[in-house]
Amino acid sequence: MKILFLNGPNLNLLGTREPEVYGRTTLKDIEAKVRERAAKLGAEIEFRQTNLEGELVAWIQQSKGIYNVIVLKAAAYTHTSIALRDAISAVGVPTIEIHLSNVHAREEFRHKSLIAPVCKGQIVGFGAESYVLAVEAAVTVNVDKK
Ligand code: DQA
Repeated sequence: MKILFLNGPNLNLLGTREPEVYGRTTLKDIEAKVRERAAKLGAEIEFRQTNLEGELVAWIQQSKGIYNVIVLKAAAYTHTSIALRDAISAVGVPTIEIHLSNVHAREEFRHKSLIAPVCKGQIVGFGAESYVLAVEAAVTVNVDKK
């Protein structure tokens, strides 16, 4: 069971970026939490971050046949990227959308996700725990497929 975690723009700044919204946990801390949970569930993790939309598209394309599930934290590209949505559709690897904040309780432009219709489901609003819950969901999604 291999899970690919992809993190989009500005997530390299977690810990110092608007801590009142996103908390003080860094992406490195989150990765450690994810690895701990995944090890308990016997899942293998690859964890990446980029600020570039095209790089996310390339990683999604390359995931086919290698990863069972993608956990996608597309950040602001969630609300803008038809390219990401098309990549998820094209590749067909089950994808889980996650967010730290409850995007539905924030500005209206964050309520719309262009990727949601092609994802298995969403986990939003649980801070760093959204990532840990995604490990559980990924294992469940994978089990569902069999
Ligand atoms: C976010 C929500 C997005 O609207 C925002 O652009 C982010 C972070 C979240 O995790 O809450 O960068 O994805």
